[in-house]
Amino acid sequence: MLKLGVLGVGDLTEKMVRGLYRHGSELHVLLSPRNHERGGMLSRDLACVMMETNQAVADEADVIIIGVRPTHLLDLAQEVKLRPDQPLISVVMGVSLAELQKLFGTRDCCRAMLSAASEINHSTVVFFPAESIAAQLLAPLGNVIPLVTEREFELATVAACMNGWFYFLADELQQWFVQQGLSAQRAKDLTLSSVEDCVAYSRYKMSATPRQIGESIAIPGTFTAEGLEVLHRLGANVAWRAASDHVFRLLMSKQG
Ligand SMILES: NC(=O)c1ccc[n+]([C@@H]2O[C@H](COP(=O)([O-])OP(=O)(O)OC[C@H]3O[C@@H](n4cnc5c(N)ncnc54)[C@H](OP(=O)(O)O)[C@@H]3O)[C@@H](O)[C@H]2O)c1
Repeated sequence: MLKLGVLGVGDLTEKMVRGLYRHGSELHVLLSPRNHERGGMLSRDLACVMMETNQAVADEADVIIIGVRPTHLLDLAQEVKLRPDQPLISVVMGVSLAELQKLFGTRDCCRAMLSAASEINHSTVVFFPAESIAAQLLAPLGNVIPLVTEREFELATVAACMNGWFYFLADELQQWFVQQGLSAQRAKDLTLSSVEDCVAYSRYKMSATPRQIGESIAIPGTFTAEGLEVLHRLGANVAWRAASDHVFRLLMSKQG
C-alpha cells in the first residue's frame, strides 16, 4: 500500500485526503503534526496517522504532498530532508518546478492544482509535468485536464482562482434573490441550478462556444439581451478579464 505523506495539513490537503479515501484509493496517509486539530480530526475520521515530526513523515512516506502556504515553504524546506528520488507533489500556488527542486533537493517534483471539490471527487485536476506520479494518484479527485507546459499550468492556476471567484458571483446573485423575498434555500437552488444548467448544456454542445450558445439565447428584444446590455455597459466582463490578467502577471513574475 502506498504511503502518502502530507506536509501542510490545511484546507486543501484535508479535502484531497478525504476525496482519496472516499474514492477508495489504497493509501496509508501520514500527516504532519502541524495543525494538530485538523490532523486529529482526519485521523479520527479516516485511517490516517499523525506523525511526531515532519521529518518522520518524510522518512516513512513513499510520496510527499506539500500543502503549506507559499510564505511557509522556505521554513518547511529548511526543516525536512527528502530523499533525492522521493516523489514530491506540490499544491502551492506560484512556486515553480525549478524552485521546488532547488528547495527540496528532490529530482522527482511535480505541481498539482485542485479545488475544494476534491472532497467530493469533483475538482478540476491539473498537474505538471504530465508524466508524473500525480497523474495516477490525483486522478480520482475529479476532472483531469492535461497540460503540456508550465505556462499552461499557471493558466490553470488562474482557473483555480476563477473557481474561487465563482463562489462570490454565485453568492451575489443568490443574495439578490433573497432581497427580492425568496427564501435563502430557494435562492441558492435557483442560482446553482442556472449555473449547472449552463455547464451541462455547454458540455452537451461541445462544438459550440459558450458565446454562440449565449447569442442564440440573448437575441435582440429578449429580456436576456436587455440585462446583458447592462452587464456590458458596466464592464462586468472587463472586470473578470482584468482580475485574470492581474493574477496571471503575478504568477509569471514569480517564474523569473
Ligand atoms: N484552499 C484552496 O482551495 C487551494 C486551492 C488551490 C491551491 N491551494 C494552495 O494550497 C496551499 C495551502 O492552502 P490552504 O488554503 O490549504 O492553506 P491552510 O489551510 O492555511 O493550510 C496550510 C497548512 O500548512 C501548515 N504549515 C505551515 N507551515 C508548516 C510547516 N513548516 N510544516 C508543516 N505544516 C506547516 C499550516 O499549519 P499551522 O496552522 O500550524 O500553521 C496549515 O495547516 C497554498 O499554497 C495554496 O496556494 C489552495
